[in-house]
Amino acid sequence: MKNILITGGAGYIGSHVVKELLKKGYKNITVIDNLSTGFLETIKRLKKYFGDFEFKEVDLSDWNEVEKIFKEKRFDSIIHFAASLVVPESVKNPLKYYLNNTANTTNLIKCAVENGVKRFIFSSTAAVYGEPAKIPKSGITEDFETKPINPYGYRKLMSEQVLKDTTKASPDFKYLILRYFNVAGADIEGKIGQSTKDATHLIKVASRTALGKREKMCIFGDDFQLLMEYV
Ligand SMILES: NC(=O)c1ccc[n+]([C@@H]2O[C@H](COP(=O)([O-])OP(=O)(O)OC[C@H]3O[C@@H](n4cnc5c(N)ncnc54)[C@H](O)[C@@H]3O)[C@@H](O)[C@H]2O)c1
Repeated sequence: MKNILITGGAGYIGSHVVKELLKKGYKNITVIDNLSTGFLETIKRLKKYFGDFEFKEVDLSDWNEVEKIFKEKRFDSIIHFAASLVVPESVKNPLKYYLNNTANTTNLIKCAVENGVKRFIFSSTAAVYGEPAKIPKSGITEDFETKPINPYGYRKLMSEQVLKDTTKASPDFKYLILRYFNVAGADIEGKIGQSTKDATHLIKVASRTALGKREKMCIFGDDFQLLMEYV
């Protein structure tokens, strides 16, 4: 059975992936999370309802500790979700994003290569596309030009490049990049969901407004006619 390392497994998307892997019978899962936006409660609930795994409360910026984890266990694959992800914050505090989303990811890739990990799945973002001049009805496809407009998107794109360059130099190291748009929804069994405090995600904001838990929701822009034609 494969040994899998998941970073950010106490967070929204990461915890749902941990759940799915446990349900599929994966037994050797290790989660690293610093609980900055994720929750210990989520880890407890995953263990209670879906099965056991190892949880390490570690910050990816603690490179010595991260290296130690790679020495303790031989991982087959890494699924990397841990990141900072609030776009306006990335504009106000770009260094946080350069450090957490690029430096720490680069260190994680380095540890992976040095310790013979062969598979790396990276949680990137649709923010790498920026604001395309024209979006066809079929939507944005993978081959669209990448032109980020904020530090969050730039940092993720930079990490994608680190993966591409690393594979060129170490062909045994394979990667897969996921570029999500606005993720929504929760575990159908209701055991876990998106509990992020002050989440800025559109669907969560809309749901909270509809439930009266938030006073209002702002809709930006002035080209709604275009939107209606698109619909
Ligand atoms: N949610 C979305 O709509 C969306 C869209 C596009 C991309 N993404 C990407 O998906 C990934 C997961 O997003 P999410 O919505 O689950 O966010 P989240 O904030 O719920 O999860 C991120 C997790 O990473 C942990 N973390 C952050 N920095 C860390 C560090 N230095 N060391 C250890 N742990 C750390 C947090 O505690 C948290 O548990 C991110 O990489 C994000 O950029 C999310």
